[in-house]
Amino acid sequence: MRTDRTFTMIKPDAVANGHIGAILDQIFKSGFKPVAFKYTYLTPELAGKFYEVHKERPFYADLVKFMSSGPIVAAILEKDNAVADFRKLIGATDPSKAEAGTIRQLFAKSIDANAVHGSDSDENADIEGSFFFSAYERF
Ligand code: PPS
Repeated sequence: MRTDRTFTMIKPDAVANGHIGAILDQIFKSGFKPVAFKYTYLTPELAGKFYEVHKERPFYADLVKFMSSGPIVAAILEKDNAVADFRKLIGATDPSKAEAGTIRQLFAKSIDANAVHGSDSDENADIEGSFFFSAYERF
């Protein structure tokens, strides 16, 4: 399993609020290189499938509704120790607990609209990247 890739989404709140450029700037300045990029949209069915692992959690329906509420940016990023370094860069799930200077502290308003997603393991980075991008796009 490779350890130099992660998967991210810029979520509907951050896209709607015009933060794509600033967030990508911070990601690239932190040493992540783009492998694959897509400006796209999750239907409720696709969002439900992507977050299926959380389907027993109380916020699942709200999360699916939110993630299909507008366009997103999906991307595969490359850097040594990508998963852990990216989660450090984005900060805690709840932006009120995120460290100063992290993407969520700067651009997110609440735990349910928290600006960005970052894979939580190398295995999930691979699964999530494959959800959005075909094999030749992930070369
Ligand atoms: S994490 O990042 O996976 O460790 O966080 P976790 O707490 O397990 O949350 C999983 C995803 O659910 C989102 N989330 C919520 N959505 C709506 N309402 C509430 N209360 C809530 N709590 C957590 C959280 O942003 C995670 O989404 P992703 O896309 O993985 O960041």
